[in-house]
Amino acid sequence: LAKIEVKLSDIPAGKSVTFKWRGKPLFIRHRTADEISAEQSVAVASLRDPQHDNERVQKPEWLVVLGVCTHLGCVPIANAGDFGGYYCPCHGSHYDASGRIRKGPAPLNLEVPHYEFPSDELLVVG
Ligand code: FES
Repeated sequence: LAKIEVKLSDIPAGKSVTFKWRGKPLFIRHRTADEISAEQSVAVASLRDPQHDNERVQKPEWLVVLGVCTHLGCVPIANAGDFGGYYCPCHGSHYDASGRIRKGPAPLNLEVPHYEFPSDELLVVG
């Protein structure tokens, strides 16, 4: 399937759910208010792949990223690592709750696919 539809009410705040999309894992994370304020206040200049949180999300509550480590393609683990986002156990890359690389060998942030919100309750990726 080229597109995937996700009903947002199925994902509680604080949870990251993994879907399969175009043969790859897709992480959809319902971020808490604390996660949002933490990610929005990160100093962009300190980042390896400098992107403000606002450039990575359309709505602050929802992070949508591919679950493919930008080092060598392993699948990171949600809610693990030193930065409260994702941790790749293959060689120890730590991503934050904006999917940005913060520590370890991965060169780039987790990829944000094309997506839209056709309504308040629905997300379509693809
Ligand atoms: Fe993720 Fe190497 S593949 S750290």
